[in-house]
Amino acid sequence: MKPGILVTGGAGYIGSHTGLHWGEAGENLVILDDLSTGHREAVQYGKFVQGDMDDKALVLDLIAQHNIDTLVHFAAKTCVPESVARPLHYYDNNVAKFGRLLDYCVEGGIKQVIFSSSAAVYGKPKESEVTENTPCEPINPYGASKLMDEVILRDAAKAHGFRFVALRYFNVAGCDVKQRIGRDNDDVPGLVKIVAEAAVGKREYVPITGTDYETPDGTGIRDYIHVDDLAEAHVQALTYLREGGTNNIFNCGYGHGYSVREIIQMAEKVWGKSIPIKIMPRRPGDPACLIANNEKITEILKWKAQHDDLEVILKTALDWEKRHSL
Ligand code: UFG
Repeated sequence: MKPGILVTGGAGYIGSHTGLHWGEAGENLVILDDLSTGHREAVQYGKFVQGDMDDKALVLDLIAQHNIDTLVHFAAKTCVPESVARPLHYYDNNVAKFGRLLDYCVEGGIKQVIFSSSAAVYGKPKESEVTENTPCEPINPYGASKLMDEVILRDAAKAHGFRFVALRYFNVAGCDVKQRIGRDNDDVPGLVKIVAEAAVGKREYVPITGTDYETPDGTGIRDYIHVDDLAEAHVQALTYLREGGTNNIFNCGYGHGYSVREIIQMAEKVWGKSIPIKIMPRRPGDPACLIANNEKITEILKWKAQHDDLEVILKTALDWEKRHSL
């Protein structure tokens, strides 16, 4: 049997898009998701199992039944303010449970791990463009939990002989360009989803959280990466590991950014109508500008962006929102 890929959180936004890319490539996928935030209909390929990643017997059984040699771990709590309010819940779910899952996978003989990390590990860096060597100083429990997971991976890989890639996601946005799946209601919508919801009338307005940053138009700048390009980064990471690649960490972003106002302007152009906004105070802990230096992923994983186009990001997000607001 072809080696299998165990995908935790594969019914969520990024996991389901990645599953689509692997499914189309004929990979042997097993999706394990408790559906706490994911959606069953977003899983279009592979075997779907509704269950808990902390269920040792289940995980060991899936590994044995499906000849699993790779763990791809998306399942995590991702809401920054919630992580500040409930740090122990975040450390339990994102760190303690992940450590146990890894332990089961080691026992089951898994050889490779691809891990969803985050730009949140950098915190509020001094320079606005960060490389993988920029010091990691997370400023909230969510970012700290992802950094702890990277340390767990490093130490466990060394001790137990598996190899891993951690992908540090920047601001993931947009939906499947073929519109088979998208971004459904979740607790952490992100700016592009919020703009799309305001466009279709699900929200009264887009709150612009801070207009006095040291940026050309005063609003925060981020590196928005289309979810299909991020999915492809996972595909390339698996190819890299299969070819014997060593443990590595990669930024996932385009290397340039857009301000909140630029996002709204492009959304209005695509949508053809104005979108209501409301000026709000800054959110605590938000950096003015956060951009990925992506030289490493481009060079080592041979990753190439296919949708580095703000119009495509917004069009796919708006189209999805429109179809799902009827
Ligand atoms: N913003 C608004 N209004 C909103 C929401 C966001 O103006 O309603 C602004 C923010 O101030 C920021 C930009 O839009 O300037 C992007 O904010 P998001 O909330 O979309 O994303 P963040 O950059 O805060 O966070 C994202 C992920 C986190 C992850 C982080 C890593 O959502 O999970 O990137 O840098 F931790």
